[in-house]
Amino acid sequence: MSKKQILITGGAGFIGSHLVRHFVHKYPQYLIINLDALTYAGNLESLIDLDGRENYTFVKGDIRDENVVNDVFKEHRISHVIHAAAESHVDRSILDPLSFVKTNVLGTVNLLQVAKSFWQGNYHDHVFYQISTDEVFGALGDTGYFTEETAYDPRSPYSASKASADHFVRAWHHTYGFPTLLSNCSNNYGPNQFPEKLLPLMIRNIIAEKSLPVYGEGQNIRDWLYVLDHVSAIDVIFHKGKVGETYNIGGDNEMRNIDLVYTLCDQMDKALSRDHGTSRRLITFVKDRAGHDFRYAIDAAKIRNELGWFPATPFEQGLQKTINWYLENQSWVDHVNSGEYQTYYEAQYATR
Ligand code: NAD
Ligand code: TYD
Repeated sequence: MSKKQILITGGAGFIGSHLVRHFVHKYPQYLIINLDALTYAGNLESLIDLDGRENYTFVKGDIRDENVVNDVFKEHRISHVIHAAAESHVDRSILDPLSFVKTNVLGTVNLLQVAKSFWQGNYHDHVFYQISTDEVFGALGDTGYFTEETAYDPRSPYSASKASADHFVRAWHHTYGFPTLLSNCSNNYGPNQFPEKLLPLMIRNIIAEKSLPVYGEGQNIRDWLYVLDHVSAIDVIFHKGKVGETYNIGGDNEMRNIDLVYTLCDQMDKALSRDHGTSRRLITFVKDRAGHDFRYAIDAAKIRNELGWFPATPFEQGLQKTINWYLENQSWVDHVNSGEYQTYYEAQYATR
């Protein structure tokens, strides 16, 4: 496999950290440059095991800053980009939409501009890979699936900003012949996820015996995929995907939120040697999220049939690994629970 200098943005975040580790270990001939602004969601502790690795470099910097991105491209002669940096939490996007436009839209266009000017129309062995979400497709009713042909219909400020970024990536391909790849993935879970998201928030509250805030009646449905399966899909698409194409990635694992929380409660009771039912008693139904998308579900036939990828981790197993990781890494959780997160938590849940 040829040498590549790969810029991974957002590599100190949840998915990015697993992606960086995977590429650094599996492809020693690649140089991996992790550009991350270390917002509240970025944490270098997640990558402490990569310290001193020869094919890995971390750069603290903002994707919105043209000079920073230019310098990274110049210094490391970037040949490929896997763009995962983003503001990623729907509830925060409802509180502060503009920061989502700035990072997800303007930041992405800034990266596209710099990559285009740096690669100068010579696109052989260059790729810009946009990591996106199934939320850009909007919400489904009880039936049906998102395919690669489903029209974008974003409904939250987060998904609108990701959809906009995706449109720019596609526009760069159609207008300039720029070499792009794009994938839209369902909800990820696993170690190192920031505790604002459903599963780690619930795990943390169960440990602390605090109430478990389920939005509305808990009937909303998500398709859950173990984070390392997302990473393996990104690897396959990066190496075998057709330039200009998009791929849907899903876990084939739809669950109502309330059922997910019940399963989690029962597994946590066992892990903490508490009586069955102890954690379920902490469940509290709270005010619903504004504009809460009812159901997401992915048809992953294209990536399965064309690239031979399928999710390898059964949900029960992935959930057990996730629970074990959080129980064994409570100091990681304590460190990311900075003052900023406490302020957010109070603003988000106090009035519900
Ligand atoms: P995350 O919030 O855990 O991490 C985002 C990372 O981006 C953080 O390290 C943060 O510091 C960094 N970042 C934010 N703004 C930045 C900026 N302006 N410049 C540089 N770095 C910046 O997010 P995640 O859950 O790991 O998601 C990663 C990507 O995957 C996102 O693009 C998201 O839309 C997409 N995605 C996530 C999921 C999911 O379930 N989490 C599912 C599908 C797609
Ligand atoms: P989340 O992890 O925020 O992912 P997304 O909104 O991107 O799908 O939420 C997953 C589901 O869980 C979503 O339907 C909202 C719900 N939810 C709760 O019921 N309570 C919570 O405290 C959170 C954070 C989410």
